[in-house]
Amino acid sequence: MNIGRQKVADESNYIDVGRKSLVHDPVEGDDTKITLVRALGSLVWDDKGKEYLDCTSQAWSNNLGANDPRVIDAAIAQMREITHARPNFNTLPLLELTARLRDIAPGDLTRIGYCLHGSLAVEMAIKLAFRNKPGRHNLIVLQDAYHGRSITTMAASWPHPNNPFLSIQPRFVRVPHPDPYRPRLDFDVETDSKLCLQLLEDTIQRGVDGGVAAIMLEPIMGNGGHIVLPRSFLAGIRDICDRYDIVLIWDEIQSCFGRTGAMFASDYYGIVPDIMTFGKGVGGGFPLAGIMASEKLAGFQSGEDALTFGQFPVAMAAAVATLDAIISDNLCDNARKLGNYATQRLHELAARHPLIGDIRGPGLFVSFELVKDRATKEPACRAAGEVYKRGLKRGVLYGESRYAGLGNLIKVKPPLDCTLQQMSHALDVLDGVLGSIEADGIA
Ligand SMILES: Cc1ncc(COP(=O)(O)O)c(C=O)c1O
Repeated sequence: MNIGRQKVADESNYIDVGRKSLVHDPVEGDDTKITLVRALGSLVWDDKGKEYLDCTSQAWSNNLGANDPRVIDAAIAQMREITHARPNFNTLPLLELTARLRDIAPGDLTRIGYCLHGSLAVEMAIKLAFRNKPGRHNLIVLQDAYHGRSITTMAASWPHPNNPFLSIQPRFVRVPHPDPYRPRLDFDVETDSKLCLQLLEDTIQRGVDGGVAAIMLEPIMGNGGHIVLPRSFLAGIRDICDRYDIVLIWDEIQSCFGRTGAMFASDYYGIVPDIMTFGKGVGGGFPLAGIMASEKLAGFQSGEDALTFGQFPVAMAAAVATLDAIISDNLCDNARKLGNYATQRLHELAARHPLIGDIRGPGLFVSFELVKDRATKEPACRAAGEVYKRGLKRGVLYGESRYAGLGNLIKVKPPLDCTLQQMSHALDVLDGVLGSIEADGIA
């Protein structure tokens, strides 16, 4: 059933001076905007001393729990040595991190590039793809994709509501993708996947002017609605890219470093792209992102990709400590075990709470859709907003989907080293929250 996706309101990093001066008071009309002052592991505290269990991992980027002492020590030690270096110099953390990433790289993705934001990593991947396919002008993306907030990556993402930057955005070609919960025409997901592959091939052959340089996708679509793309679709795209000599980019900024229960979604699916982006969890809370590219691709030439803070040695030292901790603490295993526990408990909750429509993994990429009616799958957006607000009051931060997909998704994505006890508490609170919303008749 096509229920017409409403891309809903947004969040912003922009804080005006007036708001900054109100730092100890709730912003008028928004008692959900709490001021965080401390974090440790899966816990955060606000300026009133209230403790919260953080099932958002702060934009799904604390794969290792917040302020892990190993990461903080590594960052402080690096700060005493050198904090900034021009991109044309090496630093020890850069060399160490590159060696670590090469050790865990899927396939031959051993050419590494760095920057500080996921959006810039996506731009780097796009640039590298076009660099390798001169004369081609098109880049294909998926309809519910999310690739960032720079001008270019917004254009590569789902059609943003009221996008004021349209006139200066580069153009991408958006193609449909399967959605296991909402397949087209009541197809089963495999038939929907085949249909989408056929439409993609039609687009390459007849839907674009000139050649296609790259196809870019998130293997598990994060902000666009936690859509877990079927393996058949991803394998089919790999095959199409091989047959048409198109660069395949996987944006793993949200799925990298253990979140899915495997080090990368590429390992989870057993499919290797030509370029992979990474970000979020790699820096242990410090800003860092980048790309891992195939040895078969040519690299950049001098001056094509050099940013002043392209390598931040402090974040890189933190990343080395983070990756070591993710590996030595077996956090991929923990993500799988805890994720299985969470989805199993959510299925138990679904037996009591008709609001729960669909439950998704894998690993700690856990979410569920709230629906007004399981037959029509009509999104219960108000209820989703209430889960966030009531969870906050009870000391648990659940992830919501204010800005994407259907606006009715709740995410339970704590750090990968969250304990079973903490996860159990998050789900107990959720049980109470859903019960209270249903009792109030909110959908
Ligand atoms: C898949 C994906 N790509 C790119 C980005 C953009 O990363 P950043 O916010 O670090 O620029 C995000 C952020 O949520 C993401 O989930």
